[in-house]
Amino acid sequence: MHYSFQIDSYEGYKAAYGKSVQQPEQFWSEIAEQFLWKKKWDKVLQWEFTTPDVKWFINGKLNITENCLDRHLASLGDKPAIIWEPNGVEEPHRVISYNELFFKVNQFVNVLRNNGVKKGDRICIYMGMVPELPIAMLACARVGAIHSVIFGGFSAQSIADRLTDANAAFIITCDGAYRGGKDIQLKSIIDDALVTCSFVRTVIVLNRTNTPVSMIKGRDIWWHEEIQKIEVQGNPVVPAEEMDSEDPLFILYTSGSTGKPKGVVHSSGGYMVYSTYSFVNVFQYKQGDVHFCTADIGWITGHTYIVYSVLCAGGTSVMYEGLPTWPDSGRLWDITDKHKVNVLYTAPTAIRSLMAYGLAPLEGKSLASLKVLGTVGEPINEEAWHWYDEHIGKKRCPIVDTWWQTETGGIMISNLAGITPSKPSYATLPLPGVQPVLVDEQGNVIEGNDVSGNLCIRYPWPSIIRTTYGDHERCRLNYFSSYKGMYFTGDGCYRDANGFYRITGRVDDVLNVSGHRIGTAEVENAINMHTGVLESAVVGYPHDLKGQGIYAFVIMDHAPDDADSIKADIMQTVSRVIGPIARPDKIQLVSGLPKTRSGKIMRRILRKIAENEPGAVGDTSTLLDPAVVEDIKNGGL
Ligand code: WTA
Repeated sequence: MHYSFQIDSYEGYKAAYGKSVQQPEQFWSEIAEQFLWKKKWDKVLQWEFTTPDVKWFINGKLNITENCLDRHLASLGDKPAIIWEPNGVEEPHRVISYNELFFKVNQFVNVLRNNGVKKGDRICIYMGMVPELPIAMLACARVGAIHSVIFGGFSAQSIADRLTDANAAFIITCDGAYRGGKDIQLKSIIDDALVTCSFVRTVIVLNRTNTPVSMIKGRDIWWHEEIQKIEVQGNPVVPAEEMDSEDPLFILYTSGSTGKPKGVVHSSGGYMVYSTYSFVNVFQYKQGDVHFCTADIGWITGHTYIVYSVLCAGGTSVMYEGLPTWPDSGRLWDITDKHKVNVLYTAPTAIRSLMAYGLAPLEGKSLASLKVLGTVGEPINEEAWHWYDEHIGKKRCPIVDTWWQTETGGIMISNLAGITPSKPSYATLPLPGVQPVLVDEQGNVIEGNDVSGNLCIRYPWPSIIRTTYGDHERCRLNYFSSYKGMYFTGDGCYRDANGFYRITGRVDDVLNVSGHRIGTAEVENAINMHTGVLESAVVGYPHDLKGQGIYAFVIMDHAPDDADSIKADIMQTVSRVIGPIARPDKIQLVSGLPKTRSGKIMRRILRKIAENEPGAVGDTSTLLDPAVVEDIKNGGL
């Protein structure tokens, strides 16, 4: 599939960027015209950021799955849409052509319809990385149901919170999921979550691991049995539901600075247009390219760059089950060689952990098919960037450092592979349509170059967050109230002498652990649920592999006899309440926390202690009890 909006030179980029700022509606309209619509829009854009209220391609009607599937069948029907690599190397991989994917999605659409799913219903998907996961997502999108994929590492409690927030009556899950040497018991975790979620009517269970599961009569049904029923019915091809541009496509929960995850809502039309535009341009997609994004589909990166944009472009998407280090740390390189991967898109944390194994796992790997490398999710340190460049790209593959967020739907700031300049540890330049602004704490716009500030975006792009599910005010407060007339990203940023952007990390109480966003308040809530805990404060500290580690200061109601076992128990509680990804790396038991007279915890001080720079805590005279700081400094772990 060729889109004429693909930029092919630096000059072309500058021209596209200029037009996107001067005539944004004209610019996006010409791009959107290259997609398949059931009915064209009346008006390109209507917006204001105060409420916020943003609408793109107004009254346009479409179904994204017709763009992902139907449109390609005539020319690409036999070409691979998805290549799937299983966790166990002895199990054969699967290649799913566009024809086959179309067939399977339709089958599952019928399953959903048979079970009473209607447009607008929320369906929670909690599955491992198997091809049935994108099949389920596409089937939801085809019937107009709003999917909410929950990462397989979240706990029962986290799932229950998300199910309740979305009021989801349907769940699609697996009996279990393989991850390295482990079999994660997904269905059993769902069963625990459902103890408090009686509004869930139907749970569809895919048999992946043959793990024994309990199936509740009237509620739980097997994926394969439902498919058999459809086969008996003759698998009718049902037309895709007509969706309005602004109908929600999916909800994806993410951490913020408060204790409760936010359900980020993306639209059908704008998300399709922007995600595909960014994919084609950033990775410089060429027909037949094999694109391997190593993210889990439970995160936005997987939604956009494993599923929707790659399929809208008619590309081949490689997805794998398991871990980069299983069965050994050559896993990603083996997959690259086996499937002749052209584009490899991964996270700095994966690069750092693979770097730690040295060069031996690269012996005998060719990597000659690679053309473009990408990173996402956190700042990449120069050492990792150079290792990636030298040992994986062999100095012949441009590296795109892509900055974006769950809320932005697609890549916002990045070089375009081989087209615009790259600079180690810089995301570099904004994509056309993206207008970054740096502001100071008072909200003044910082002009010029060689300056730092908080990163905002001043004009809407098509895949901007529309609302936080069920609570629009929260969306306003979180993103549109800090700086008037601007979307605030929560990130700090430096603009160098040439106008290139470098993301420096979160400026709010959100941590980035191995590329996963974790709100400190969420971890604190979980710790505080542990028996005997009076209060806690969580901060991040630099971690060689994970980027940031989680450091928790905890006050207990009495000094424990065995501090180590209490700490281990608290870690276990956090794993149970949120999931293993939020488990603190370090816990320090303390007698008090540094607070201002108004009772606010001075995190700056705790951060310095966690960073092992106790000398740099600075002025403590405004504290209610400055002696606490000395106690913490002397306390150690
Ligand atoms: C961080 C992931 C530096 C940033 C797509 C952002 C990055 C958060 C980069 C969003 C990058 C993402 N360089 N930092 N290239 N990409 N981030 O929602 O702090 O899981 O706000 O989306 O990750 O994380 P999220």
